[in-house]
Amino acid sequence: MAILPIIWAPDPILKTRCKPVEVIDDAVRRLVDDMFHTMYAAPGVGLAAPQVGVATRVVVVDVAAKDAKPEPIALINPEIVWRSDETQVYEEGCLSLPELYADVERPARVKVRYLDREGATRQIEGEGLLAVCLQHEIDHIDGVLFVDRISALKRNIILKKMVKAKKLRSREHAA
Ligand code: NI
Repeated sequence: MAILPIIWAPDPILKTRCKPVEVIDDAVRRLVDDMFHTMYAAPGVGLAAPQVGVATRVVVVDVAAKDAKPEPIALINPEIVWRSDETQVYEEGCLSLPELYADVERPARVKVRYLDREGATRQIEGEGLLAVCLQHEIDHIDGVLFVDRISALKRNIILKKMVKAKKLRSREHAA
């Protein structure tokens, strides 16, 4: 397993509507394994394939508490099939926008249909952090970031900070 480099916003791949997985083969399973490894190392509670440079509809999440048993879920071609009318506001962050957070309002509960790593169709219902995480990661494979769901004013402040952070990072890498 490998820890993959995480792409920071702004980047065109983070704005891409990703292609569905056609065949779940060893290459897809390897991507899933690498994504879990990358997510746990970050650490984070969710990661989508475009964040590691792959424009495909693969997402991994684990919202288990720090000291609890891990609850890894890999979702291939996930689709939200139901959203509650009730909403919740959660302070979201993203591994592609490190150390930047904002309140985002989303449906409080969702049902998601997806394929597991063996290709079986499954459905999961999430509330609380899991609902946030599922929606945030599925947004990623549609080319949507959490900052696209907040006011333009707040979004521009965050994106300006990201442009600065990226410049700093590339300078460090060049040095
Ligand atoms: Ni994210």
